[in-house]
Formats: sequence, structure tokens, C-alpha cells
Amino acid sequence: MPANPKVLVTRKLPKAVEERLNNDYDCHFNPDDRLYSSDELVDFAQGMDAILPCHTEKLTADVVARLPDTIKIVANFSVGVDHCDLAAFSERSIVVTNTPDVLSDATAEIAILLMLGAARRAGEGEAMMRNGSWKDWSPAFMVGTSVTGKRLGIIGMGRVGQVVAKRARGFDMDVHYYNRSKLSSELEQGAMYHDDIDSLLASCDFISLNCPVNPDTKGLLSRKRISKMRDGAILINTARGALIDEEAFIDALKSGKIAAAGLDVYCVEPGGNPEISQLPNTFLLPHIGSANQETRDAMGYRALDNLDAFFKGSEPNDRVA
Ligand code: DGY
Repeated sequence: MPANPKVLVTRKLPKAVEERLNNDYDCHFNPDDRLYSSDELVDFAQGMDAILPCHTEKLTADVVARLPDTIKIVANFSVGVDHCDLAAFSERSIVVTNTPDVLSDATAEIAILLMLGAARRAGEGEAMMRNGSWKDWSPAFMVGTSVTGKRLGIIGMGRVGQVVAKRARGFDMDVHYYNRSKLSSELEQGAMYHDDIDSLLASCDFISLNCPVNPDTKGLLSRKRISKMRDGAILINTARGALIDEEAFIDALKSGKIAAAGLDVYCVEPGGNPEISQLPNTFLLPHIGSANQETRDAMGYRALDNLDAFFKGSEPNDRVA
């Protein structure tokens, strides 16, 4: 590896990851963890060999075009790469990598939390305990929906989807899935394949979105598709907000077509959608699918493994462009 390549690290990373970075690279760190504007990002990239960004940095075609020629690789600290214009990176022959595998368990944990939270009205109950409005108990009080034994439809049966399926089986759920291609029976573990999203939507009590957002999947849960869902179904999204037509989704939550939703991701982040936040039948988290210490460390090491491979002259394992 050439002596100490220069790396722009856009956000504060776990201590152990920054220590490892310091050993082998000459780093620009962001100790205050401030979100850089695009102009700052381009300025700080001057003279650097690599960037280690998160999904919070919007690496649009315009930003990519303004990066200095010294940048050879962008090693993302994220599995999702929808914040990167991959075509623009390829055009400039800048390598792009991500961090798959290491956040599947963490994200699946949050999917199950959202599923239980939405079905059992945990958001409403928690708010009641905090604002002192719990005044009575009756058989009709806070009645939700059972998760156990219900049918779960997973859209995107990749690494995260497969772990969600595995955890859901702990609740005796009957797992169905849609994926671009059918999995081997070893990976399916008895899950039923649908080669068409509409058929999956029409068959399931719970739908979990677990696919990446890209030009093919953007707006996948359109108004038309929502109309195909079972009446009173529950939707879980730990993938990306842009998979959903949020306006149509809000209408469906208001009408009861979708009984409840558990969401970790939104079209606009940070902040989410204030209209969704007003709806009592939603259980909401602020994009924390991968937010546990073990996973954060593993994501950092994975990004570093990709950088190390690149600067040692090998192909990084997780190259996406
Ligand atoms: C990911 O890795 O894509 C998560 O959403 C966090 O960025």
C-alpha cells in the first residue's frame, strides 16, 4: 500500500474504527460529527485519495463531477448506496463499495420490533404512560392484532430479508416472499415464493420491505399496489422511505386500508413526515436499523477492509461501482 493514503472521513465513527484508520491512513476526521454541505464535502476532498462517507452524504452526479481527480475510491459506511450516483462514479472511474452482511441481524431486530410495535400499538401505549393519560383498563382497551401465526410477506429476500424470515418463524409466522429470483430451497427454509408483487400483497397480513431503493424499486409501493394489499394489513419498512408513495400510504393509513405501520425510514430524512407522525396507528423510529455498537464497529471494519484491499492493489470485496 502506498504510504498513508489520505482519507476524508465524513462522520464520527466508532473509536476502534477511527484508531484502525489512524494506523494506516492520513485522515481528515469530523470529531464534531457535523453534517457537511456538498460544498464543504468537495472542499475537504481536495488532495484526498479516498472518501469514507455515510448515507447522510448525498453524492449526486453534480457532487461527483466536482470531486478532485485525486479521489480513487468511496468506501461507504452503509449497505445502502442510494445516496450515491453510481453511474456518475463509474463515469469517473471512482470505485464505490458498501458494507453488506454485517447489519442484517441488527436491521432484522428492528423489523421485528416494528412489527410487534405496530401490531400491539406500542407507540400509543408508550405515549400514554409518558403523558399520564392512562386512566382505565377494560377488555376493549388498547386492543391490537396478534403477530403469532400470521402470514408475513417479505419484499426483497436478500440478506436482511432472510434474517427477518428466520426471526419471524419464532412467532410461527407463515413466510412468503417476493424477490427478483427464487431462492434455493436451502435459503427459502420453507418460505413460499411469489414471482409477482401483487400476488404477495394480496396474500399477506404483514408486509416487510427489505429491498434496496434503485431506479427499478423507487415508488414500488405505489397507490395501485397499496390497493392490492389485504384490507387491514400491517406494513413494516426498515429499507428506504423512497420505496413507498408516502401520500398514498398516508391515505391508506387514514382509511384503515393499512391498519398500522412500523417505520424506521422515510422519504425525507432526518425529520421524517410530520403527517405520518400525527397518525396514532404508526410505530416510528428514526433510522436506527443498524444502530448498535457491535454493528457500527463491524460496518467500520468492513469499510476499512474495502479500503485496505483497494490500496493494496486488490479488488475490494464489496465493490458496487
Ligand atoms: C445502511 O447501511 O444503508 C443503513 O441504512 C445506515 O446507513
